[in-house]
Amino acid sequence: MIKVVFVCLGNICRSPMAEFIFKQMVSERGLDNEFQIASRATEKYNELCHAGIHPRTKQILQEMHIPFQEHFSRQIRKNEYDDFDYILAMDSQNVSDLHQLLGPDHQHKIFRLLDFTPNPLNIKDPWYTGNFDETYWDITEGCEAFLSFLKK
Ligand code: 4NP
Repeated sequence: MIKVVFVCLGNICRSPMAEFIFKQMVSERGLDNEFQIASRATEKYNELCHAGIHPRTKQILQEMHIPFQEHFSRQIRKNEYDDFDYILAMDSQNVSDLHQLLGPDHQHKIFRLLDFTPNPLNIKDPWYTGNFDETYWDITEGCEAFLSFLKK
């Protein structure tokens, strides 16, 4: 069982999109039983507001026929470091926040999702850019590259 958590700032736009895109990829390959897949925030604000998935994230998942359930923002907890094998952040700010929240990454579990691709960039925050299509394609590229990395 490979345990993966996708992490972004708010856990309402990028990381839930990544959670459901990756679940679908794994499912299409008949690998559901091999993975446990989750998503978390680095900040607590949206958890305190009990914020659900952003409507534009839901819209693009629907357009792309990717199944999803409602999900409420949850900040990653320090004790969850041991619960996951891969902690996949969307941008370098998430990575620094994760180091603050979880302590030293002794087991080298923390990566940026696009670091598995030939274009190791940040996935821009659509909360600010408004470009959820770009987010979808970046996350899809990252998830495909991550699966190929695991196969090797
Ligand atoms: P996310 O986007 O990190 O991709 O979920 C954001 C969602 C909410 C906020 C910022 C970014 N916010 O400031 O509430």
